[in-house]
Amino acid sequence: MKSLFNVPYKSNNELLYIQDAIQLGKTGGDGCYTALCQRKLEEVLKSNKILMTTSCTHALELVFELIELKDFEVIMPSYNYPSTANSVLLKGGKVVFTEVNKENLCIDVHKIEEKITPKTKAILVVHYGGTSCDMEPIMALADKYHLYVVEDVAQGFLSSYKNKWLGTIGHFGCYSFHETKNINCGEGGALSINSIDHSLIEKAENIRQKGTNRSAYDRGEVAFYEWVSKGSSYSPSEILMAYLFAQLEVAELLQMRRRDLFQHYYKLFQATAYPSIEAFSSGNMYGAFNAHIFYVIFKTENYARCFMEQLRSNNINAYTHFIPLHLSKMGKNLGYHKEDFPYEASVCKRLVRLPIHSMMEQDTIDFTMKEIHEVLMRLK
Ligand SMILES: Cc1ncc(COP(=O)(O)O)c(C=O)c1O
Repeated sequence: MKSLFNVPYKSNNELLYIQDAIQLGKTGGDGCYTALCQRKLEEVLKSNKILMTTSCTHALELVFELIELKDFEVIMPSYNYPSTANSVLLKGGKVVFTEVNKENLCIDVHKIEEKITPKTKAILVVHYGGTSCDMEPIMALADKYHLYVVEDVAQGFLSSYKNKWLGTIGHFGCYSFHETKNINCGEGGALSINSIDHSLIEKAENIRQKGTNRSAYDRGEVAFYEWVSKGSSYSPSEILMAYLFAQLEVAELLQMRRRDLFQHYYKLFQATAYPSIEAFSSGNMYGAFNAHIFYVIFKTENYARCFMEQLRSNNINAYTHFIPLHLSKMGKNLGYHKEDFPYEASVCKRLVRLPIHSMMEQDTIDFTMKEIHEVLMRLK
């Protein structure tokens, strides 16, 4: 038996809708499947405005072009994915790293204010593994200092914070539908604009459509479209949106399966105090949880390495996660040192993610739980 780390879900409708998109003869962007995905997301998330994008990375780039970031600073956790920092640098901004808290590896709200300067324009939060950041104090800080809050919801689609879906609480939410995410279309994303300012939405539409007012033209609001601003090509192909729509239709079912698997792990780790384990995922204390990741944190790097090796030899895939950005080659080029964020530097070597996906059958779940338990009992 084999337990794979991730198997992207396949419903019966992806091929059907892709075939339909091809038959409709419109495989570029902004056709009927893009509109279907956009409306579905606006309805499900209760978002004021969704723009479908080619990736979460591109949604982030679009935001930083939109808020004219050049020469301003963005505060973000170092324990994070490179797209966030890259999108800031590409738009001429400065990255300011901060700490995560030990409870859920999301941004430490107590460490943000000390990093705010007259140059700060935004706080970027990452909802790690689908667990929500504590948004209320973050929004209060943003109000106090007139900052934007950008939510990186790459991993947090369909998790919530106090009855609001993640990505709809800050000023902007950037989602990912990459193959590795709960709902996927290979490569894809979406931007939620949580402001009713029509001129801001129009500016975002223009950036997304190669710096043209093509979206207004498509709605029949202008007679022709032309170059109106800086912009890029962030609208996904209808083929991808057809795939995504099939997945969005069954989103709740996929969430249920993942939550069920998460509970299996949670019960296993609650039932036994394994001597090598320091902590493990506990879900989202603030609301609904999409069970994107189940992680364990070992007491030592050596335990984590032995655990992964032993699982691998039993055909179970388990992986570490982010290399904190301040430790990476680029982080060092920006002037950061290992000592700047010691917890992040340490936890990244001790954290291991376990297989979790909605295609896992009961016999594989039982096999995975049993093997993990046995390996952990031997790790002393
Ligand atoms: C926190 C975070 N942000 C951004 C991304 C990038 O998403 P995408 O591949 O859709 O650009 C990822 C990808 O895993 C991520 O984990």
